[in-house]
Amino acid sequence: MIAVIEIMGLASKSIVKKIPVPSPIPENLSLMNFLISNKITIASSCNGVGSCQKCIVNKSILSCQLTLSNFIKMTPSLRVEISYL
Ligand code: FES
Repeated sequence: MIAVIEIMGLASKSIVKKIPVPSPIPENLSLMNFLISNKITIASSCNGVGSCQKCIVNKSILSCQLTLSNFIKMTPSLRVEISYL
């Protein structure tokens, strides 16, 4: 079975997208860049250096500072919650 990341929009209270986990997972791919490359809008004004705090998902995760592979390890539900979607 292929693992799937669910994108949950908290504003719309719906699953906005399901994205298959790539295999193999690119080693240094940030969660933010993974989401952006799958056409999920992620707010950012610091280009991923970790200073603007706009790319937060799941209430407190800076998506630019976490790799996709570490996100998968720490989030067994594979659910990404985005407040403004
Ligand atoms: S993009 Fe600015 S803190 Fe993540």
